[in-house]
Amino acid sequence: METIKQTTQLSKRITRMAESATIKMAQLARDLKAQGHPVISLSLGEPDFDTPQHIKDAAVKALADGYTKYTPVPGLIELREAICTKLKRDNGLEYSPNQIVVSNGAKQCIANLSLALLDEGDEVIIFTPYWVSYREIMRLGGGNPVHVNAGIDQDFKVSARQLAEAITPKTRMLIFSSPCNPTGSSFTPEELAELVAVLEEHPQIIVVSDEIYEYINFTSQGHVSIASFDSIKDRTVVVNGFSKGFAMTGWRLGYLAAPEWIAKACTKMQGQFTSGANAFGQMAAAYALTSNMKPTQDMKVAYQRRRDLLIDALSKIDGFKVNTPPGAFYLFPDIHAFFGKADVDGNVIENADDFCEYILHHAHVAIVTGTAFGEPNCVRFSYAASDEILKEAASRIAKAVAKLK
Ligand SMILES: Cc1ncc(COP(=O)(O)O)c(C=O)c1O
Repeated sequence: METIKQTTQLSKRITRMAESATIKMAQLARDLKAQGHPVISLSLGEPDFDTPQHIKDAAVKALADGYTKYTPVPGLIELREAICTKLKRDNGLEYSPNQIVVSNGAKQCIANLSLALLDEGDEVIIFTPYWVSYREIMRLGGGNPVHVNAGIDQDFKVSARQLAEAITPKTRMLIFSSPCNPTGSSFTPEELAELVAVLEEHPQIIVVSDEIYEYINFTSQGHVSIASFDSIKDRTVVVNGFSKGFAMTGWRLGYLAAPEWIAKACTKMQGQFTSGANAFGQMAAAYALTSNMKPTQDMKVAYQRRRDLLIDALSKIDGFKVNTPPGAFYLFPDIHAFFGKADVDGNVIENADDFCEYILHHAHVAIVTGTAFGEPNCVRFSYAASDEILKEAASRIAKAVAKLK
């Protein structure tokens, strides 16, 4: 009786929210591991590196210096100034501290935007494959997700024509990540210019550019932000954070750079929710942005080596269609060639969910179904793991899929 009552008292909001598939897969992998199976987890989007020592030291110093109190809601001025310096240095973008809002991770920045900018029924174009949380966060704010899909044959990058076709009078926002989770794809400046040309025709659309993988970009050109196009900068929001480039996932620190009216609205929202991010972490984050970037560059070099290693290993397995993504730390191979095949007990792989389950149980490797990212023909590998682990994972997968008939 108690259970029924509790269930009916849950809000409609939480009832219609999907659970994060990446977190679910990580839990399944932990459960199998706890039963004694040698599980390799390539399911979470988390660097395997530790936070660089000089950033940890800065946090310890900030604690000793008394940074233990509430900070201004949008963040300490020291950090907001450091973010402005970084945006100018790395991206050629001019912002002032009153256009910056620091939050508990980039995830909260996106939640602030959804809650502050959307009304019930507003359409949000989400370039698909998309990061798992966009859809649910946008729905939380009342938004209607509109998925615009690009498959592996277009390197998972939505074209300007596709964008133009998806826009309606109700479109209020566009959100995408570049470099992208889950595909590792990254828009070139030319491709961004084509998207911008479409957006110029629709001034009601706010562009949310999630650039959290900025520092994990293997192109010689490096990262280019869509905010560097002046014609749309006054309605573009850059979201970024410390989790990926500085291996600071557990610190929960992210930020957005936006027109002042949007920054103010997000600050108002955050003022009622969390009052802002932790004080000593913010001081360390300011130091991270303005001090030695070598550890960040070294991590990028390691990711690129691992990407090449995993591409090489997976492309030798029949049935895997792999592209070469220029950023982030994910591969997103198309595995639909396995659909319709059966394991030794006659269980048929109907879709990517079945494939991941088969790989988890028969290769003891945890990867995530593409369904969670809006692309049911693919699966996501996170290669934020050592070379040895990646080699072992690929070898186990090759043996497991060879048994599918
Ligand atoms: C594209 C993208 N945006 C945002 C986030 C969230 O980052 P944070 O840890 O700063 O909340 C992630 C984390 O996986 C991500 O992949």
